[in-house]
Amino acid sequence: MEGITGQIMKSEILRTLRNAGDSFVSGQTLCEKAGVTRQAVWKNIAQLKTNGFIIESVPNKGYKLISSPDVLYPDDIKSRLTDGSICKKIESLEVTDSTNIRAKQLAEFGEEEGTLIIAEQQTAGKGRRGRQWESEPGTGIYMSLVLRPVINPVHVPGITLVTALAVVKAIKETCGANALIKWPNDIVLGGKKICGILAEMSSEMNFVNYVVTGIGINANNSQFPKEIEETATSLYLQTGKKTDRAQLAACIINYFGRYYSKFKESKDLMPFIDEYTSLLANKDREVKIFYGMEEDSEKTETGMARGINKDGALIVDTKNGTEYIMSGEVSVRGLYGYV
Ligand code: BTN
Repeated sequence: MEGITGQIMKSEILRTLRNAGDSFVSGQTLCEKAGVTRQAVWKNIAQLKTNGFIIESVPNKGYKLISSPDVLYPDDIKSRLTDGSICKKIESLEVTDSTNIRAKQLAEFGEEEGTLIIAEQQTAGKGRRGRQWESEPGTGIYMSLVLRPVINPVHVPGITLVTALAVVKAIKETCGANALIKWPNDIVLGGKKICGILAEMSSEMNFVNYVVTGIGINANNSQFPKEIEETATSLYLQTGKKTDRAQLAACIINYFGRYYSKFKESKDLMPFIDEYTSLLANKDREVKIFYGMEEDSEKTETGMARGINKDGALIVDTKNGTEYIMSGEVSVRGLYGYV
């Protein structure tokens, strides 16, 4: 893995070139922005080119970024983060068992809030309720962020809803697609799932040690295994366009950072109720609630989903009155399909 100084230099160079759009940037400007010598700029540009960035260099004019490779390089992601980003450090892996497992290992050893683990491939990607997360190499986004919120553990589930909101907003901004949220935290497009979120926590009675929020996005997959093809889809299959994964990953982090700050201040989902409800795939649709988590659970109830409350509960009008469904207790399915 590259040293942190090299990452900062390259991300500054990439940020400056990207901000310049179609214009050339002089070597001198790059030296000033990255705070390094001409020789260092030249060396870092040569390394970026080796990594697949196409950078045009013209004597007396400078450098222009033509294109970026479809690889999740930390310096590329960093170059797209906003100032004061929640993400302070990126560990990018070619292969790992699970980015959540790696993030939790680091957190156990004191890793600070804001470290992002991102991988091109997971060999044991984890889904909710002990399921697997299909993690085909080089097509999806598999990433986990270490958080250390100073909140009561009972409020932690709200982080998954805030993460879902950030993903939907970032998909709209980078791909133009109108994804929706299947409460509490699946993201759907065209009636099928394109993203899953798995937040895991280590806590004591009244104290959160850490939270890892893990995001898996089906970005450029062109097919899925038989077992999940009925319910899974990708941004590529839905929009017909390949997604710039580094851009989408950075955009999610940018939205998440803003929402997470707001969430820590309010300590509930009050500021997000309207936006979340407006993006709810189940809104005003009949849903079936499976108590006891499993979809073969005997105790079920149907009703109309109306939105969420400040605790992130799904508001469902049933024949027995309005129920407030908490995410840990139930599974919710549409009456006529996955959503
Ligand atoms: C689900 O919908 O069941 C949750 C899926 C979460 C998958 C992501 S991929 C990145 C992170 N690492 C994991 O092992 N899981 C999450």
